[in-house]
Amino acid sequence: MSGIFDTHAHYDDEKFDEDRNALLSSLPSKGVELVMNCATNPASIQSTLALAETFEFIYAAIGFHPEDLIGLTLSDLDKLKDLAQTCSKVKAIGEIGLDYYWKEVPREMQLPFFEAQIELAKALNLPVIVHDREAHEDTYALLRKHKPQGVLHCYSGSAESAKEILDNGMYIGIGGALTFKNAKKIVKVAEVVPLERILLETDAPYMAPVPMRGKRNDSSLIVYVAQALAEIKGISTQEVIATCTQNSKDLFRIDK
Ligand code: NI
Repeated sequence: MSGIFDTHAHYDDEKFDEDRNALLSSLPSKGVELVMNCATNPASIQSTLALAETFEFIYAAIGFHPEDLIGLTLSDLDKLKDLAQTCSKVKAIGEIGLDYYWKEVPREMQLPFFEAQIELAKALNLPVIVHDREAHEDTYALLRKHKPQGVLHCYSGSAESAKEILDNGMYIGIGGALTFKNAKKIVKVAEVVPLERILLETDAPYMAPVPMRGKRNDSSLIVYVAQALAEIKGISTQEVIATCTQNSKDLFRIDK
């Protein structure tokens, strides 16, 4: 396999502390062409930008994740704006969104941060990378209101809701969950969403696909997700990878 674009990874995560450089250096030889590293908080933004500077094939999404908002204020978004405008490898605002599964950050704090970051992305003409965990209704309401370009990462909604996402012009991010034994909902989504609107992702180090489920994930394992999608679509794995990579380059405006 070649030409893999992993549109969602967290290589700044401490699970990569022991062998980060060696692993990242090995990815191109395993068929990985491009990686979008998604930051989640101020420290992770610095690490993400450093990775993008060191590795030619790594791009940066910068943003404040809904679980990482404690201690931040909306004025911290000014820093995002400065970085997005000065660093040419910043290609998206993310990972942003809503998470009603974890209760540490109150919804009243998550909602204004999500909305302000969508508005920032639109002002900067960048796509958003959206995290939505058990918060579909509020997430879709804000996407409907602002209609940003972007991707619903690790899509966990229904096939019906996927239609609305597509109608709004956004992409659906699909990762390891597609290979899980209990994956009925996301399989249905993969059946109805045209390949032209799907992005492949890992969410590394999390969400490793079967047969590596439970282990540390990395971008080379995306091939198992592509295989599962290829079976559903009735085409070759390489065709899935080629189309999804093109979709990703279009969305993030990377021409290589
Ligand atoms: Ni993530």
